[in-house]
Amino acid sequence: MGASAASHSFLSGCQSSAKNQWVFQPIPASDKDDLILAEGFTKQILISEMDPLKNDELFGTNNDYTSFMPLDSSGTEALLWVNHEYFNPLFVTGFHPSNKNFKRTKEQVDKEQSLMGGSVLHIRKTKGQWVVDTQSSYTQRYSAQRSFELIAPRKIQGTNKAVGMVANCAGGQTPWGTFLSCEENFDNFYGNVVFKDGQRQVVRKRKKESMWLDFYNHPSEHYGWVCEIDPKKKTAKKLTALGRFAHESATVHPLPDGRVVVYSGDDKADQCLYRFISEKPNSLETGELFVADIENGKWISLDRESQPRLQKAFTDQTELLIRCREAAKIVGGTPLDRPEDVEIHPKSGEVFVALTNNKKRGNLHGSILKIAPKDGDHTAEHFSASTFIAGGEETGFSCPDNLAFDKKGNLWICCDVSTGSMNKGEYAPFKNNGLFYVPLTGPHAGKAHRVASGPTDSELTGLSFADDGETLFLSVQHPGESSKSLNQLTSGWPEFNGKPPKSSVVVLSGPTLKQLLA
Ligand code: FEO
Ligand code: CA
Ligand code: CA
Repeated sequence: MGASAASHSFLSGCQSSAKNQWVFQPIPASDKDDLILAEGFTKQILISEMDPLKNDELFGTNNDYTSFMPLDSSGTEALLWVNHEYFNPLFVTGFHPSNKNFKRTKEQVDKEQSLMGGSVLHIRKTKGQWVVDTQSSYTQRYSAQRSFELIAPRKIQGTNKAVGMVANCAGGQTPWGTFLSCEENFDNFYGNVVFKDGQRQVVRKRKKESMWLDFYNHPSEHYGWVCEIDPKKKTAKKLTALGRFAHESATVHPLPDGRVVVYSGDDKADQCLYRFISEKPNSLETGELFVADIENGKWISLDRESQPRLQKAFTDQTELLIRCREAAKIVGGTPLDRPEDVEIHPKSGEVFVALTNNKKRGNLHGSILKIAPKDGDHTAEHFSASTFIAGGEETGFSCPDNLAFDKKGNLWICCDVSTGSMNKGEYAPFKNNGLFYVPLTGPHAGKAHRVASGPTDSELTGLSFADDGETLFLSVQHPGESSKSLNQLTSGWPEFNGKPPKSSVVVLSGPTLKQLLA
């Protein structure tokens, strides 16, 4: 799409627009190295990467998904789950992979592993400020070194235990008080496996950057799952019934009988959207997995027993789940433009899916797909699908990734233009990644209001609302990601003290947010 005068004014001329065109005055796109907010929003850093927790543990790196689980009825004391998706080796060990002297040691890998996975933070609000109780027994790290039970019909690579979780991107929360955390780009850490003529082969990826296989030969089949963490019992398991792929999120819809439906996208160009229906109440250990056939508005079962084509391709259901992408394509799953976060509208029950982009297919700015289950039944075989909103200069945002609905049913969108593309070429008008508010009803319905602009190289992600009606948690992830050395930092956020920038969880509040949520 070309840059018309009208669309350009949307991006850069918000301040000259009449205020009544907007619910509140959005900020223009910015390339400033800071977290900039619209008027009436305030910010407070809750915690930053590598901040100390108890027992010499550190809060992990590159915080992503957050999930708020209240501990009391006031909504001011809670457990906050936080994913740690990856790390910047330069900021963790002082080395950059492009440095010819870069050679990872076991000590470095151990440190990197201790900073991955996820964290449970016991948080409370006192005198208007949210604080982390770092010494609470609830506050726990679930790193890439912790033991996870592998819940599967049989052992995988000879065991039903996996070491750690990796590449935790987004997730979900169950009605029975557990967090779901999704392993996305797991192949960056332990590679992947391919099966040719029945032979298993390990494929290494990004050898110099984040490959741990030289030190820990953990099988790739132990990664790429939805993980379930019980923050009170402090148990951790991997749920193979939901399939193995680059899980972005695991979005839960409760059914009246205690079972749940879980939606999850496979965040890779031309991969699919999945739905899981649990077999029993209060458990995700068993159930039926489906893949979306968007053209025909139909969910297709990935149950090997009921599909002769799948019986031919896979020796058992566990093998099918490990090779889920192949199974999805065999039965006719629709390739999508990077299906990332999924959110369910709190009133209509419609399912919104962020399709971030697909450069191979010329889709640079992405869109949000809306799926309406037949008769509002999330277990129905059929659905209708349509595009809710598309990214681009007309709407003012590009590459939607993480989504959240507030209780009123208005949509919040975080964008993820990749660090290498930001402020360049077709992406230049959008400047740094932002957070947008999109009302779904009223005179401003469908208009994307830019609420926040992130620091240099950062992505805004991990939205979750507290139950106090006035707080939004937000992850500022990977500021300064393109820095080539500690002397050439591209961002100083948030401390601007000459030291490396820090991914951080930020608390947004203020009168405008309170008004929008009231
Ligand atoms: Fe980890 Fe798909 O973003
Ligand atoms: Ca994401
Ligand atoms: Ca992303």
